[in-house]
Amino acid sequence: MQDDTITTIAGDTTTTALVRLDRVSKLFGGVHALEDVSFELSKGDVVGLVGDNGAGKSTLVKMLSGVFGPTSGSILIEGEPQTLTPPARAQKHGIETVYQDLALVSSFTVAENFFVGRERSWGRGPRLFQIMNRRSMTSTAASALEDLNITIPHLKSRPVERMSGGQRQMAAIARGAFWSERLLLLDEPTAALGVRESHEVLELVRALSARGLTMLMVTHNLEHLWSVCNRVIVMRRGKKVADLRSADTTMDEVVAYITGAKS
Ligand SMILES: Nc1ncnc2c1ncn2[C@@H]1O[C@H](COP(=O)(O)OP(=O)(O)OP(=O)(O)O)[C@@H](O)[C@H]1O
Ligand SMILES: [Mg+2]
Repeated sequence: MQDDTITTIAGDTTTTALVRLDRVSKLFGGVHALEDVSFELSKGDVVGLVGDNGAGKSTLVKMLSGVFGPTSGSILIEGEPQTLTPPARAQKHGIETVYQDLALVSSFTVAENFFVGRERSWGRGPRLFQIMNRRSMTSTAASALEDLNITIPHLKSRPVERMSGGQRQMAAIARGAFWSERLLLLDEPTAALGVRESHEVLELVRALSARGLTMLMVTHNLEHLWSVCNRVIVMRRGKKVADLRSADTTMDEVVAYITGAKS
């Protein structure tokens, strides 16, 4: 989402999908966590991924974030089949993930968390260089948050373990968006949050969507889905059972697909 890198997205995105899953399956022992799943994500899509517990949503997210490779099938990035494992490779392809837990290093500040695992020189080199580096990282993180209208007090001094769940989630999403050049994956971003904090997180997702960021968001909350997503993909027992534009469906219809009343 950085201005200087977004232009590096190659290809004609009007005809080539940003990301395409082609008959992707994932077996864990005898369990078919995903079975023949195909869909496309176009630039600017904000897709809600729903389904009952065990339907395969997190497995799908982990497949795109490079945690697991498919047992069969392929993932294409702008028309080219790619291997996304390990996660560092998915990140090189511009795919970032915000997990519900493990989102941030709790003893670090928000500013430090922005650069965890990114800056090779961070924590190394002569002391003066470290201090200068820290200063520039801190101001980069602060301006990225300011740019998104996120106000987090003490982002340079307070460890995230002393922040609210909402502030942590906002910081994690802002960090994902900052590094994401293609796709931001959100696995249940509002699950642990109260009403006001969920509302703030959804506002942030809307702001990122207005900037053209492509997102895939797992959620069990259809109200939340409807407030930000232009599309909904329903999973049931590892299979994709529906792929609908939010404007063309209803929550009742989506619930019917989730429960199997409709297939
Ligand atoms: N690492 C793993 N090893 C073995 N089985 C797994 C693994 N991860 C997921 N599964 C199985 O794959 C299936 C899909 O799980 P997944 O976590 O993707 O579901 P989900 O839709 O995210 O569910 P939830 O809503 O509960 O988070 C389940 O049957 C689960 O037990
Ligand atoms: Mg899950």
